[in-house]
Amino acid sequence: SSSGQMGHSFRRKPVIIIVVGMAGSGKTTFLHRLVCHTQASRIRGYVINLDPAVMSLPYGANIDIRDTVKYKEVMKQFNLGPNGGILTSLNLFATKFDEVIQVIENRADQLDYVLVDTPGQIEIFTWSASGAIITEAFASTFPTVVAYVVDTPRSSSPVTFMSNMLYACSILYKTRLPLVLAFNKTDVAQHQFALEWMEDFEAFQAAMRSDDSYMSTFSQSLSLVLDEFYKKMRSVGVSAVSGAGMDAFFEAIEASAEEYLETYKSDL
Ligand code: GTP
Repeated sequence: SSSGQMGHSFRRKPVIIIVVGMAGSGKTTFLHRLVCHTQASRIRGYVINLDPAVMSLPYGANIDIRDTVKYKEVMKQFNLGPNGGILTSLNLFATKFDEVIQVIENRADQLDYVLVDTPGQIEIFTWSASGAIITEAFASTFPTVVAYVVDTPRSSSPVTFMSNMLYACSILYKTRLPLVLAFNKTDVAQHQFALEWMEDFEAFQAAMRSDDSYMSTFSQSLSLVLDEFYKKMRSVGVSAVSGAGMDAFFEAIEASAEEYLETYKSDL
């Protein structure tokens, strides 16, 4: 087997699920739902919290950044604001991430999935060096998938939908990992419109034309880019509140993990 960047050998299990999403998309609630689902289905899960600033978590984390890095003290010590404090805390934790990988490796035979919660402000993880280091450390040792949580009711306007998908697209190209779109809050709004827009380019264009903030040529070019992106995606509708879509979500994760193994680890 090929050796990871940090000297760990690559394994097929557990599958790492990195949960990201815009603030308020329901990441933490969704992660809580995933934890409940794994426990009820006898799926062996392990939970890592990477948000140093979260006050209280609805689920129990096996590894919690808050046990190692005290966010408020980091803010004081380095004279930082809230976002600088979160970023610096993540940097400090990233320097010890080899130990986290080691802990998971030691338990690998007893685990199916590792669920990873990320800071509330998405760009602190997706656009930072430490986010990249952590992602790379996971992906060089285990099959790793990004779950992008979408606030479905808030994405019902074509322009907002496109912005959200462009962000997801940038994460795909930055991480180069399989991405699962989890359309959350389907208890409030079904995600059918999103599936239709992703499958039928012309349906999306028609919706765009009826939007006030429509910018003809620009939007048309962008939706062409996204058409390519959608082909690489798996989409599922979920509700963190009702628990709908959990089986479909894990099927999408499994298919993505297979894709990961085929793409990156064909030598195994
Ligand atoms: P951060 O604290 O920034 O990480 O936010 P988050 O993205 O983790 O969102 P959080 O889980 O705190 O949820 C945001 C809001 O959306 C809360 O009021 C949740 O109750 C609500 N919410 C989350 N998931 C669902 C869902 O499936 N359905 C409905 N109706 N509300 C949801």
